[in-house]
Amino acid sequence: MEQINKFIEENKDRFIDELFGLLRIPSVSSKTEHKQDMQKATEYLKKSLLDAGADSVEIIPTGGHPVVYGEKIIDPSKPVVMVYGHYDVQPAEPFELWHSQPFEPEIREGKIWARGADDDKGQLFMHVKAFEFMVKSGTLPCNVKFMLEGEEEIGSPSLGKFCRENAEKLKSDVILVSDTSMIGRDVPSITTGLRGLSYLEVEVTGPNRDLHSGLYGGAVANPVNVLTKMIASLTDENNRITIPGFYDDVIEVSREEREEMAKAPFDEEQYKKEIDVVELSGESGYSAMERTGIRPSLDVNGIWGGYTGEGAKTILPSKAHAKISMRLVPNQQSAKIDELFVQHFKSLAPPSVKVSVRVLHGGEGYVSPVDHPAYRAASKAYEATFGKKPVPFRSGGSIPIISLFEKELDAKSILMGFGLESDAIHSPNENYPLWNFFKGIETIPLFYKYYSEGD
Ligand code: BES
Ligand code: MN
Ligand code: MN
Repeated sequence: MEQINKFIEENKDRFIDELFGLLRIPSVSSKTEHKQDMQKATEYLKKSLLDAGADSVEIIPTGGHPVVYGEKIIDPSKPVVMVYGHYDVQPAEPFELWHSQPFEPEIREGKIWARGADDDKGQLFMHVKAFEFMVKSGTLPCNVKFMLEGEEEIGSPSLGKFCRENAEKLKSDVILVSDTSMIGRDVPSITTGLRGLSYLEVEVTGPNRDLHSGLYGGAVANPVNVLTKMIASLTDENNRITIPGFYDDVIEVSREEREEMAKAPFDEEQYKKEIDVVELSGESGYSAMERTGIRPSLDVNGIWGGYTGEGAKTILPSKAHAKISMRLVPNQQSAKIDELFVQHFKSLAPPSVKVSVRVLHGGEGYVSPVDHPAYRAASKAYEATFGKKPVPFRSGGSIPIISLFEKELDAKSILMGFGLESDAIHSPNENYPLWNFFKGIETIPLFYKYYSEGD
């Protein structure tokens, strides 16, 4: 441990400079205008991996954004750890709410401020630097593969096929991922569950053009009024989702397991304070941790239609739109949920409007085993650097590739995330504390050590 701390101390300015180079590339996967930037990010990472000590690195085209694949095989008889991360980021809008430019990283208050500072450039870069340390110090105990993708934030549409076609190349004993968060800086924790996702866009059409709301208002259905009613009926007074069959495949977690989960130190007051709400809300009968960890949810991500410009314009709009997502729990299948949603949503529409629904993307949930040698190795690594045994907990977020890895590569993933909820991922002013960045670099080599030693 002393050796790694010395290495970090001596190289930290360079590590930050190198990460800043990556953060300056606006690799927003959802926008075609950033296609060049996606390529630039892959080249940057290729160089980073080669400089760190990889034997070979390839930029592999997929139907969508390319994958950066690198490896160092020290001995084929030793285990293979595959590091997964994503170099794409969410759009940075609304720009005006950022205190510094999203793609001009800065350090203030001990934190790196930039889009991707945590999710996932900062976190994946910890792995590149931990790898560099192990190579340079001659302590790399096993084989390493890196698979860095550029489509995570848009649902990894090309990755199922990519994994199937490259199954041999990607073959590994365990997949190591830092793309999640900890309960708190002083509460080390390992994510043992992720939710799945169904994401759809709906369009409600009324009259063939915007109408004068005086001449027509009251006599013609207003698509915005209709859409909001339809959405309101998707959940009931207990905040349960009303789509028939929605809960059919949900596995109820046993009381014993819920009691075990409730032991995780979760500070509800702090949680509320940080986001400035006075009361939490969700499905009756479940705690906040359970509502995100073991229960599905439905949210409108965006809604628009009609006149939203300055002042008043008296119209009855022709169309209304919404983007609606459902977070799913393990065993629910996103394709089946998509179908149930489409059927139900259409059935809600009165004859006065037309409805169309489009599936944008989806993915399945994941539960990681706590009785796996890799989990034990991760646990020992955190215990050594945080001085406390980490708590397992299920996160509400999604990483679609993780269930694909299990299906296509038959490999389990260990989610060693070092982010914090306050890192504001996907929001303006995303940040990553330097403390977490360096703690990650310190902890990761110990995972390799304990995992390779076996137990
Ligand atoms: N890294 C996040 C997921 C995450 C964050 C999981 C924190 C647990 C804790 C990932 O990049 C992400 O944002 N995923 C998307 C998936 C979607 C776009 C298909 C999500 O959860 O919205
Ligand atoms: Mn991520
Ligand atoms: Mn993300």
